[in-house]
Amino acid sequence: MELRNIKWEEEEFLKQRKGVLESWPTGSQVDLEESVNYHKSIPKNKISKWVLKNAKDEGKTLTQPRAGVALIDDQIELLQFLEREGMADFLPITIDSYTRLNRYEEAQKGIEESNRLGRSMLNGFPAVNHGVEGCRKVCESVNVPVEVRHGTPDSRLLAEITLAGGFTDFEGGAITYNIPYSKDVALTTSIRNWQYVDRLIGYYQEKDVPINRESFGPLTGTLVPPCVAHAVSISEALLAATQGVRSITVGYGQCGNLIQDVAAIESLSILTEEYLKKFGFRDVLITTVFHQWMGGFPQNEAEAFAVISWGATAAGLGGATKVIVKTPHEAFGIPTKEANALGLRATKQIINMVKDQRLVETELIKKEITIIKEETKSILEATLSLGNGDIAIGLVRGFEAGVIDVPFAPSRFTKSKIIPVRDNNGAVRLLNIGNLPFSKKLRNFHKKKLEERGKVENRKPSFKMVVDDIYAISKGYLVGRPKK
Ligand code: 5AD
Repeated sequence: MELRNIKWEEEEFLKQRKGVLESWPTGSQVDLEESVNYHKSIPKNKISKWVLKNAKDEGKTLTQPRAGVALIDDQIELLQFLEREGMADFLPITIDSYTRLNRYEEAQKGIEESNRLGRSMLNGFPAVNHGVEGCRKVCESVNVPVEVRHGTPDSRLLAEITLAGGFTDFEGGAITYNIPYSKDVALTTSIRNWQYVDRLIGYYQEKDVPINRESFGPLTGTLVPPCVAHAVSISEALLAATQGVRSITVGYGQCGNLIQDVAAIESLSILTEEYLKKFGFRDVLITTVFHQWMGGFPQNEAEAFAVISWGATAAGLGGATKVIVKTPHEAFGIPTKEANALGLRATKQIINMVKDQRLVETELIKKEITIIKEETKSILEATLSLGNGDIAIGLVRGFEAGVIDVPFAPSRFTKSKIIPVRDNNGAVRLLNIGNLPFSKKLRNFHKKKLEERGKVENRKPSFKMVVDDIYAISKGYLVGRPKK
């Protein structure tokens, strides 16, 4: 089938489904009509779309952890703990690495080992292996919506099983779960595979079962400037809406400068609404998710709490619908449930404290919003134009040309030419603009911002500065200044 951004015919979709469901034995457990009926029995307070809508209407920021272990009963215990002790508004199942790579035999061995040793030998929940009933047991054990969070370029079977399993929210996308995660998966392949996932959700939606889709805004998690995250998230929103998705959360990873982060969240929802309307989608619920700092963390737990709290502040003041929470164990790997709950509690405390404060739209924030909008639009317009108005084709050609680009990506299918660095206030700018189609005015803006910092540090902005910035937060600073 030729790659295009058009809604798949039901017949075409159902034909492909057969092959997907036959690729692993648990696929045969999925019965779409039965699943639709199952979803209709889920109470509203556990359906992602409605919980997000209420939060958006009330101006609330919801908290959500990451959490995944190998066995069903342990996953249930973990989620119940995070709901009770962490007061999480939203829960996840974080999927293990084997499942993310479609290596279900190895996931199975991981389950058996975990059973034998009495502890999780996988770094997440192998939902495909646990099958539809296993997933339903997990969803039914808690009182808030549970989202599937992973990092899978081909998540067709994972989506089939987890959606039939009662989850009402599915993270990822053709770009955000490919470019930062894979070296060799072509964008044409991941776009097709994610069109399938979105079409599946479109199918549920046609039967009045709302499933939310969320883009993974942080991408490589390393100094990704807002315009890059936004262009990608908006592209994925367009792809999803085309297949019939009607509830979309667009994502952004904290950069660390409060003004830039607040401006980023605000501009993200404005731009997404604008682009969806431009393409004729008027009935899509748009919400935002803010990821607390995705780069290196300090090892010291008190310092880690400070980083967590700074993220919570930006998420709350920026008015994000949801915040994804880090833990004081971040520097060491997968957290204990106790550490996870502490991150949630610290975040909630801040969210509650800032919820009655509105940042007056200062000149600085307004200016930053204008810049982010200009940058994002220039990327999106160039991408769309390369596809003659078709975002799917435009993305393939745009990434090839580098007019849309992601810093530090492992994928062969990006130029990865852009290099970010902080300016003198810690906002993320571009040292190398690569092939981004920025106007002269925008280019000068970045240049001037970096010259400012160079002057203060008495050094030329260079890759050394970038490396200093990458390690700065884990060493206790935002901006990586040279040692005096
Ligand atoms: N449980 C909790 N957190 C997890 N992460 C990855 N897998 C899990 C899991 N199974 C977290 C990492 C990091 C982020 C990218 O995801 O600790 O913070």
